[in-house]
Amino acid sequence: MDNPFSYTSIVSGDSFCNREKEQNDLLKYINNSQNVLLYSHRRLGKTSLIYRVFKKLDEEKTGIGKIYIDLYGTLTEKDFISAMFGSFGQIESRVEKLLNLAKNIFRSARFSFSVDPATNLPTITPVFDSGDKSLLLEEVMQVVADYSKKRKIVVVFDEFQEISNYAVDEFEKRLRKVIQKHKDVCYIFAGSQRHILTQMFNSSSRAFYKLAETYPLEKIATSHYISWVKKLFAEKKVDIDKELIERAVQVCENHPMYIQKFFFHLWDEEELDMELISKIETQLIDRHENEFLNLWDSLTLNQKKTLKLIIQNAGKDIFYADAIQGAGLKSGSQISKALDSLTKKDIISKNDRYDIQDVMFKKWIQRL
Ligand SMILES: Nc1ncnc2c1ncn2[C@@H]1O[C@H](COP(=O)(O)OP(=O)(O)O)[C@@H](O)[C@H]1O
Ligand SMILES: [Mg+2]
Repeated sequence: MDNPFSYTSIVSGDSFCNREKEQNDLLKYINNSQNVLLYSHRRLGKTSLIYRVFKKLDEEKTGIGKIYIDLYGTLTEKDFISAMFGSFGQIESRVEKLLNLAKNIFRSARFSFSVDPATNLPTITPVFDSGDKSLLLEEVMQVVADYSKKRKIVVVFDEFQEISNYAVDEFEKRLRKVIQKHKDVCYIFAGSQRHILTQMFNSSSRAFYKLAETYPLEKIATSHYISWVKKLFAEKKVDIDKELIERAVQVCENHPMYIQKFFFHLWDEEELDMELISKIETQLIDRHENEFLNLWDSLTLNQKKTLKLIIQNAGKDIFYADAIQGAGLKSGSQISKALDSLTKKDIISKNDRYDIQDVMFKKWIQRL
């Protein structure tokens, strides 16, 4: 049997672990055309979950239309419109219809035509210049509204935080205005930069305020990992110890991508024991050395000190005078400033205590 563990792209089939509740929750939102803000730190499984749910919609023959748009790397409203239009091949595979649609919307544009190698669906990309983009936005979104008159549809904007970079007047407001009118459409706004997204949706001064139900994607529970890993190993007639899986999951702090990496490397080993777990843990941190070095080098001295302080105090009581002094910092305001920047960079998060998001980065700092 081939190694079923995979960590370089979205996972599906046997490589996908559980998330039953999340799938059902999303299906409920989709069926009821309720908008959702799905967020988590990166590599926690948002995109994989979305694809899984899309597959379910097909399997259950719901007839609900599906559009997935990856906004990662889009820089302008023009990019957004192109990405949006490029996705219409997912609901309309008749090239002629697509072309007509394009001609109606982009009256003065040229088009490039291609086939998406991943999905084999046609893609028509408009090549247009300035013009009245606000009108284009409305018209391109109108396609979704028209479609939803015939059947329900779910539209996913992945890496939605990217739109906060578009340096253009009132884009959020204009987008909200059209989306708000769409009744039989479920919009899923997915993204990984929690502070940007929560600000966008939870602050009353912003356009997307209360436009979607907030759905933070959590890590996967240990018990789910245990049955999943056990089953995969059983297929090659290996009975892997529950304690061993538990330990590996603990080392990775339940982070799905690291767990996939962990078991990917464990798959071909003969002696499955605790010693091996430690060995793989060390290797995993080593493998990321360059990435972590770059990240570390990009931080200011106070940010580095603050990270070390978070680790030392397990994220608690970091504003105590002796903690501040012990970390070689001068004042609480220095820490506040560093915490703020580290949060914006998505390196740390705060729930009941501060924590470093990337568990292996945390372990790497501990080594310093
Ligand atoms: N349900 C899951 N079961 C097992 N591994 C998962 C699951 N979801 C995600 N992963 C792991 O995490 C990695 C990143 O997943 P991805 O869906 O791209 O996350 P995100 O979109 O949040 O960045 C995958 O390559 C895979 O290794
Ligand atoms: Mg993703």
